[in-house]
Amino acid sequence: MYFATLAASVLASASLAAAANFSVLVGANGLTFEPNNITGAVAGDTVEFLFYPKNHTVTQSTFAAPCSPMSSPAAGVDSGFLPVQADATERPAWSFTIQDASAPLWFYCAQGQHCVEGMVFAVNPTEEKSMDMFVAAAKASGDAAAAEGASSAAGGASPAAAGASSAAGGAAGSSTVPPTATAVGGAASAASASTSSSAQAVGAAAAESVQENGARQVLARAATPLLAVGLLAGLIL
Ligand SMILES: *[C@@H]1O[C@H](CO)[C@@H](O)[C@H](O)[C@H]1NC(C)=O
Ligand SMILES: *[C@@H]1O[C@H](CO)[C@@H](O)[C@H](O)[C@H]1NC(C)=O
Ligand SMILES: *[C@@H]1O[C@H](CO)[C@@H](O)[C@H](O)[C@H]1NC(C)=O
Repeated sequence: MYFATLAASVLASASLAAAANFSVLVGANGLTFEPNNITGAVAGDTVEFLFYPKNHTVTQSTFAAPCSPMSSPAAGVDSGFLPVQADATERPAWSFTIQDASAPLWFYCAQGQHCVEGMVFAVNPTEEKSMDMFVAAAKASGDAAAAEGASSAAGGASPAAAGASSAAGGAAGSSTVPPTATAVGGAASAASASTSSSAQAVGAAAAESVQENGARQVLARAATPLLAVGLLAGLIL
């Protein structure tokens, strides 16, 4: 009797201890995830992202295409854009639970040039598919886009044009995330998009290896259109 009870309580606390929570800061110091990779994560672990000012996403991609949303074998998870004003005192949080840790998981920020500037994140990178390689590939995808833009614009490509076309490429990717996650343009819609997409993600979770938990805590913000226009450049750049 006594031993059975003891064994049960040891098992219970062992399984509680096994589910780790990793915390990642999004944009706390420039265009970064901090840390930019976590290792030793196992199925059942939670990765929670705290969003700092500007307007970032946590979007699942693949090792082969760091700055594009994962679409195969299933759509990856995506926080959607979570804009945070520079003077915000609370931070939105978004998390996912790892369903399968047998292979690395790859993520990026889908805002403008953030990914090609190295704003990427990984769960359990390996020696064969390392964090360094992923960061390099993300930056190289920007070089490739810029080179393409420069060569296709005959007679003097402007850097602005090249930048604009790769920004468009990055933004276009967000249209392939689940429909409910594409609603952007304000705190309220971003929050509801994330929340409703968490229900969707469950169905595809086995293939994705992760399950979204949705935005738990979102700022009460009065986003007036005029203010939004004025802040747009600051949030993106
Ligand atoms: C981990 O995070 C989840 C969801 O955010 C929470 O429900 C759980 O209590 C956390 N566990 C620990 C050990 O902090
Ligand atoms: C991976 O993250 C650790 C901190 O968790 C960091 O020390 C290391 O430099 C990171 N690796 C790369 C390649 O950035
Ligand atoms: C956040 O960024 C997205 C994509 O660039 C944009 O559509 C959205 O309007 C931005 N939100 C705010 C509040 O600036």
